[in-house]
Amino acid sequence: MKNIRILAIESSCDETAAAVVENGREDLSNIISSQIDLHTLYGGVVPEIASRKHIEKINYVIREALEQAQCTLDDIDAVGVTYGPGLVGALLVGVAEAKAIAFAKDLPLIGVHHIEGHICANYVEHKNLEPPFVCLVVSGGHTHLVVVKDYGEYQILGKTRDDAAGEAFDKVARAIGLGYPGGPKIDRAAKNGNPHAYEFPRAKITDSVYDFSFSGMKSAVLNQLNLAKMKQEEICQADVAASFQQAVVDTLVTRAMAALKETGMNKLAIAGGVASNTALRAALKQECEKRGIDFYYPSPVLCTDNAVMIGSAAYFEFIRGIRHGWDLNAIPNLKLGERYE
Ligand code: KG4
Ligand code: ZN
Repeated sequence: MKNIRILAIESSCDETAAAVVENGREDLSNIISSQIDLHTLYGGVVPEIASRKHIEKINYVIREALEQAQCTLDDIDAVGVTYGPGLVGALLVGVAEAKAIAFAKDLPLIGVHHIEGHICANYVEHKNLEPPFVCLVVSGGHTHLVVVKDYGEYQILGKTRDDAAGEAFDKVARAIGLGYPGGPKIDRAAKNGNPHAYEFPRAKITDSVYDFSFSGMKSAVLNQLNLAKMKQEEICQADVAASFQQAVVDTLVTRAMAALKETGMNKLAIAGGVASNTALRAALKQECEKRGIDFYYPSPVLCTDNAVMIGSAAYFEFIRGIRHGWDLNAIPNLKLGERYE
């Protein structure tokens, strides 16, 4: 069978990314232009600045992705692009670029769901991983527990009722003075802290075993900080970071283990920016080993936003015959499993 090469573009948030991916599993290139330094000045992502940076960078990033893969547009079989969810102005840059390239070269155009992309990062990292499996998706905007029934087929078991896991990391980091982006900073600070110094609540959702809630945990941290301030006590940043991280990890691990038990599946994958958290990886690894479950996680560069994962997801859509028309648009609140063809 002919090798299928996909040029993939990702611009849903604050990374401008392009990649060439072969047969959904081989990353021939992976170029990411991060805007983190720029948004750090404002303590978080500023949507309009993100869009403006994407439009400035995108052609350079694509050219570099083609060069790194040692190919030209003539070697590309289809163009894949994130069309949601994400920031609308940011998404539109990638979608317009992908449409222009596909139109000019008369190539198939495939819109990809960003979260589907995160899940597919596992196919690139683990060449032997095949559905079905349970996947815990934990990113800055999403927290989902999903059964991947087949390529491109998802059943959502649970999701967050309020903040996403990454969002909670970012908010707590800001509150304890670590700054943006919070996840990696809490991860690092927590290594020197006591995870049992504070008991932050592990919220249980009464009508769902699989749904998540992180806002109570975040408020408990803020209350603790206020209390300390009122009593003019010093708080130990590392202890708060470690205790908060432990509360998030416990919540994620219990839900994931319940899903594995309930579905009887013996494979667990994790995806999204928070999936690079060292404490989460260690805890899941340990729990999976105890239960004889195979545990899959992408390397950190494939956990946070990148275009390789989009190229992988686009390939599996491509071989299912899914194509988008020239009217493809950005859909900021696109739901997982929803398709606009
Ligand atoms: O998947 P991603 O790059 O973007 C979205 O699709 O949202 O995830 C970004 C999120 C941020 O909230 C960031 O703080 C978090 O992932 N993150 C981490 C770590 N690295 C990134 N959270 C915890 N520990 C980390 N090591
Ligand atoms: Zn993402």
